[in-house]
Amino acid sequence: VDIIIAGPGRAGTALGIGLAKAGHRLVGVLSRSGHQLDAPNLDWDDQLPAADLVVIAVRDDAIAEVAERLAHHSDDVAAAVHVSGLKSIAALDAFTCPVGSFHPLQTLPSGEAGAARLAGAWVAVTTNDAGLRAGLHRLAESLGMRPFDLDDHLKPLYHAGAAAAANYSLGSLGMAFDLFAAAGVAFEAAEPLVRAIVDNAFELGPWMALTGPIARGDIDTVKAQVAAVAADVPEHLQAFKEMGLALARMTGRDEIAEVLT
Ligand SMILES: NC(=O)c1ccc[n+]([C@@H]2O[C@H](COP(=O)([O-])OP(=O)(O)OC[C@H]3O[C@@H](n4cnc5c(N)ncnc54)[C@H](OP(=O)(O)O)[C@@H]3O)[C@@H](O)[C@H]2O)c1
Repeated sequence: VDIIIAGPGRAGTALGIGLAKAGHRLVGVLSRSGHQLDAPNLDWDDQLPAADLVVIAVRDDAIAEVAERLAHHSDDVAAAVHVSGLKSIAALDAFTCPVGSFHPLQTLPSGEAGAARLAGAWVAVTTNDAGLRAGLHRLAESLGMRPFDLDDHLKPLYHAGAAAAANYSLGSLGMAFDLFAAAGVAFEAAEPLVRAIVDNAFELGPWMALTGPIARGDIDTVKAQVAAVAADVPEHLQAFKEMGLALARMTGRDEIAEVLT
């Protein structure tokens, strides 16, 4: 597939490297401040070369503006996607070709590191065009990715789910870091436990994977934990109780929820 990348930042570079490795051809890159991809530089105001797909990987709030800018000279472009998990595909309405989004459900912290993480990751495909949908599924599979279809109006909910899974887990680990530090225990000591919990969550589901005092309905232990956090790391007390409440609701433990409110 012949591809143009617009916005070679972390996601655009990761996709560009991955696509080139998978045998696709980068026919050009549109960048503001240079790039590390092995492909010709294109001028933002020139007619775009013929391509099967333009991948717009600029930050979310610039997608519509970039689409407007490119749409007027993209007669030889067969389709356009952005890579945001949140933004509607309507952000690409300026194009007359079929449009969609292609959101890798993966963290892409840099080009090389991100490219290495594409294989095995899932990717959300959103489009109203059946031909583009099939093409994007094939493209994902060529990268070793697992495509799934996502309705445009459900993207914000899906994106919130991704934040809960990935970012909020880090909130929990950051809290653990501080509580361990206050107890004189190295954060690394939690690694085997955390890895086992994540494995269990995907093998058994989050509900069956849950162990500990809230799952057991052990009110005295939960009270002792809350008292310890309140005494020694009070800045985490509110979040500790809120997260406990979420677990109490998950397990239907109303008696524990009362202790935490
Ligand atoms: N990184 C991830 O983990 C990840 C994962 C999945 C999806 N995404 C999606 O990927 C997209 C880009 O995110 P990112 O993390 O790759 O951001 P990023 O590293 O900041 O890269 C953004 C790129 O867009 C360019 N750009 C920004 N505003 C522009 C404008 N007005 N005109 C032209 N170019 C512009 C930037 O150019 P300059 O360098 O010149 O500013 C840069 O090349 C977002 O839609 C994001 O949701 C990211």
